[in-house]
Amino acid sequence: MNIVVFISGRGSNLKALLKDQNGYQVTHVISDKRGIKGFDVAKQFGIPHSYINWKERPKAEAIATEILTEEQPDLIVLAGFMKVLSANFVEKFHHQIINIHPSLLPDYPGLNTHQRVLNDRKTEHGASVHFVDNQLDHGQIISQTRIAVETHDTAESLATKLILKEHKLLVQTVGQIANKYLFWRDNTLFYIDKPLQKPLVY
Ligand code: GAR
Repeated sequence: MNIVVFISGRGSNLKALLKDQNGYQVTHVISDKRGIKGFDVAKQFGIPHSYINWKERPKAEAIATEILTEEQPDLIVLAGFMKVLSANFVEKFHHQIINIHPSLLPDYPGLNTHQRVLNDRKTEHGASVHFVDNQLDHGQIISQTRIAVETHDTAESLATKLILKEHKLLVQTVGQIANKYLFWRDNTLFYIDKPLQKPLVY
């Protein structure tokens, strides 16, 4: 299975995917930011990578579509990609785009999830992988991972604890899709032989 990964920064989730590539290959990395660490990761693994100026979304998405038409990926992975894709773009790649988000969705879509969890004195936090639809951090949730929030935690400590679990979550989830344990049939997401009723836990 071929995948294209969209990033906006450090690219540690990208690196986790590149180290694994069990049943899939990353064929291209796209970013809306120049000179990011994630491009060094792509270079290190010899993966073609493209910067796209995202100032004007329709233009940016047209360029991204050209690359995707060339690459014909089976799956598009948003791994720390911080731009919102248009409904039109998402529709073009229906059921083909997944995103990793640092919260237990449907709670805390959007930014600053770690701080918002602390502000609400939650005792549990986590990350989710979901199919992307036309709403922000929305769409069928595929898998989740959880961490405990402790009294001494800060937004930074939560981010540090969670990122390690995110890597496993994303790699395992992409692996399940690549190996066809997770698949769409008639607009229903199946896991092995049954519709997926609740998120897989990693
Ligand atoms: C990750 O924590 C990811 O969940 C988050 O950005 C970080 C990227 O880290 N994504 C979002 O907030 C998307 N809404 P990385 O560049 O090291 O993979």
